Amino acid sequence: MATKRGAWLLPADERQMVIRSQIIGAGGYLPARVVTNDELAQQLDTSDAWIQERTGIRQRHIAAPEETAAFMGAAAARSALREAGAGVDDVDAIVLATTTPDQAFPATAVRVQALLGIKRGFAFDVSAACSGFIYALAVADAMLRAGTARSALVIGSEVYSRILDWSDRSTAVLFGDGAGAVYLRAGKGEGLGTDRGILSTHLHSQGELGDILYVDGAVGRRDRPGTLVMNGREVFRHAVVRLAEAVDEALLANGLDRGQVDWLVPHQANMRIIEAMRRKIALRPEQVVVTVDRHANTSAASIPLALAEAVSDGRIRSGDLVLMEALGGGLTWGSALVRL
Ligand code: ACO
Repeated sequence: MATKRGAWLLPADERQMVIRSQIIGAGGYLPARVVTNDELAQQLDTSDAWIQERTGIRQRHIAAPEETAAFMGAAAARSALREAGAGVDDVDAIVLATTTPDQAFPATAVRVQALLGIKRGFAFDVSAACSGFIYALAVADAMLRAGTARSALVIGSEVYSRILDWSDRSTAVLFGDGAGAVYLRAGKGEGLGTDRGILSTHLHSQGELGDILYVDGAVGRRDRPGTLVMNGREVFRHAVVRLAEAVDEALLANGLDRGQVDWLVPHQANMRIIEAMRRKIALRPEQVVVTVDRHANTSAASIPLALAEAVSDGRIRSGDLVLMEALGGGLTWGSALVRL
């Protein structure tokens, strides 16, 4: 039964039903400042041609000092709530993925809770680097289906500009700042593959590969605030194999064929990785949502930012089958299959 403090808990009889977490709204936020490849080439030994050819990136958004993960996450969340027609009283939980939090604690999610004026429910962060949004979505989905909450904001918000070594051309050109969010609500489901909502999520990690992509330091180390270090070739090699597996896993779990996928909304790291996944699922280029050219890699924010863009411009519609996949530091990787 509902309790006074936990008024969002579902009654026991309703918890027995199949519950699907439905994406009701999506929103994004990007800092106003845009930095082109040519601008980077003024300070680094690089060129627009090299960056575009290897990554597909043309520009990135870079945060102003006040644009922190909490600030941008709250802005993206407001936009997702507006799209959903929901208010702050309709949010039971906030699950926020970031590896560039405002502070070691409290969690960036509770800062977002305060910025939104939400005085109920609970909020916490998830850390899984570029796979963060898929991880946060999986956690929120499990909580909604278990009846722990009836609704949730799932947010990815990152300011990688603050953890980059701006003198390292091999990493500085790849990342950008931004935030994306979705508003989830528990709905009744009926069968595999046909319902509206999150059909399945699939998470993986392999800790022994932690040193191919990491931040060399942390708040807990006074000697090192930390900058991003990456073995690009190794990450690329693992990404193509692991993401292909995660895509197969999602389709198999739902008894679906790759021809039934309407949209691929991939993590936006690199156009060559995105292309490899598009070919793997045999989608036409116009069925893939691409933002990497304009946003670069916004880590945990990239999938919800891309989703929000394609929903708001009318490409992705209610009922469409959307496959999401991501790989990042950890290594972590995963996929989610969602009927919008
Ligand atoms: N401009 C010009 N030259 C560069 C630059 C640059 N910005 N960066 C590296 N180079 C040079 C290197 O120094 C090297 O020169 P050398 O041959 O004289 O030594 C040459 O280009 C080739 O370097 P590689 O690192 O081998 O280049 P590669 O073709 O592998 O491309 C890249 C690098 C784009 C990083 C690629 O490895 C990649 O996309 N990897 C995936 C990594 C990724 O996307 N990470 C994001 C985080 S993880 C994720 O989100 C999935």
